[in-house]
Amino acid sequence: MGFSIHIIRKAIFTARKYQDYLTDERIQQWKDGVKTKQDDLLDVFINLKNHRLNIYEIKSQILDLIVATFDNVSNNIEWAMPEMINEPKILHKAIHELDNVVGKERLVQESDLQNLNYIKACVKEAFRLHPVAPFNLPHVTTADSNVAGYFIPKGSHVIVSRFGLGRNPRVWDDALTFNPGHHMNNDKEVVLTDNNLHTFLFSTGRRGCPGMLLGSTITTMLLARLVQGFAWELPSNEQHDVDLKENLHDLAKARPLSVIAKPRLPLHLYNTS
Ligand code: HEM
Repeated sequence: MGFSIHIIRKAIFTARKYQDYLTDERIQQWKDGVKTKQDDLLDVFINLKNHRLNIYEIKSQILDLIVATFDNVSNNIEWAMPEMINEPKILHKAIHELDNVVGKERLVQESDLQNLNYIKACVKEAFRLHPVAPFNLPHVTTADSNVAGYFIPKGSHVIVSRFGLGRNPRVWDDALTFNPGHHMNNDKEVVLTDNNLHTFLFSTGRRGCPGMLLGSTITTMLLARLVQGFAWELPSNEQHDVDLKENLHDLAKARPLSVIAKPRLPLHLYNTS
């Protein structure tokens, strides 16, 4: 227990080191009158009138948002990549899509995402099969309700299993296999933000994830850049496949992903400065 608290403290310290001073700088800019127009959420936090936040609360809010952003995204990619590397047909299909839509003379951009259905399906499939944090945040029902024939009285604590939904064999064919085809529907655009409750990427309703659009865009961009930009190989001391064991605490990958990346685009496209 003491050990894990130590790890968490260290991680929070590291995250804060990169962002707290930026919050201090911004607060000073408002105080000095250098900044007068609200451009982002940090400006909004600083200028709240009715629910005024002190500096510690502002920094904690920012930390929450930063953690939500890098944690969900990096965990997803750490699952999508090994699943794709282990299934070369899937990886080749994703590369083929990127080469067709974007080519090899420029880096993939956000404006390309609407045409990258297969890449989005890979991201979605990694979320379906590997929801890091197996349960949704707890919610309390505000009224009596019926769900699938079950009576749920007002005031119940409801904890939805993202893991159970994603691996439900009554909904998904071959539920335990990583297959982006699960999300491809002829020419219909694949979106990560739908909420038909077959998967529960961002939850739903008023307390659903407010960072849905940002989160799905960053995740898809990251996978697209990694697949477009590099050829991926296992280190020579590894077996044939990347090990897909889950950490039983939170379903993250038990061992960090370790693979070799080799550039596959013209070298001037890589910012090495
Ligand atoms: C791929 C990335 C992300 C995924 C999969 C994800 C998923 C989720 C889920 C499942 C919830 C729980 C919703 C519920 O309780 O019903 C949630 C809540 C939340 N997320 Fe995200 N999220 C992502 C990215 C982000 C980003 C980028 C931000 C902000 C910059 C963010 C901010 C939040 C906040 C503030 C809540 C709490 C909402 C509330 O309790 O009202 N998330 N997210």
